[in-house]
Amino acid sequence: MIKLENISKIYPPKLHALEDASLSISQGEFIAIMGKSGSGKSTLMNIIGFLDKPTTGHMTFLSQDVKALTQTELANLRLREIGFVFQNFNLLPRLNAWRNVALPMAYAKLPRQKRKENAFQLSTARASRLN
Ligand SMILES: Nc1ncnc2c1ncn2[C@@H]1O[C@H](COP(=O)(O)OP(=O)(O)O)[C@@H](O)[C@H]1O
Ligand SMILES: [Mg+2]
Repeated sequence: MIKLENISKIYPPKLHALEDASLSISQGEFIAIMGKSGSGKSTLMNIIGFLDKPTTGHMTFLSQDVKALTQTELANLRLREIGFVFQNFNLLPRLNAWRNVALPMAYAKLPRQKRKENAFQLSTARASRLN
């Protein structure tokens, strides 16, 4: 499903964050990437989530060559297939809690009422698991 072949990432002028990384993840597989601070985990996650581009190497996502996709195609693929839980949350301060949860559903063009319903359902499902 996700395939990285000989991926390198150099932050200019010459910091080699990733060197020749190859990795293959199948559908349904659960993977943890471990390594000491500064070993390139975030760089790798950014590349897997199309937030950054590798300097060299080849990546396929759902059998598509990532390099051949436009920014819009990547944004749509990210919207439909990728979820992020950021270390620093990345919440938008101008939106309240449910609007933050519902934002991707707006890009996915769900009607407002449905977005709100889903967001509240997600938060109550989570709250009842915590109780
Ligand atoms: N935007 C950047 N510009 C320059 N160097 C960076 C940038 N992001 C990360 N680095 C460097 O790349 C290396 C790998 O960082 P990172 O991927 O954040 O590692 P980890 O997430 O495993 O701690 C580190 O040496 C870090 O300082
Ligand atoms: Mg990191």
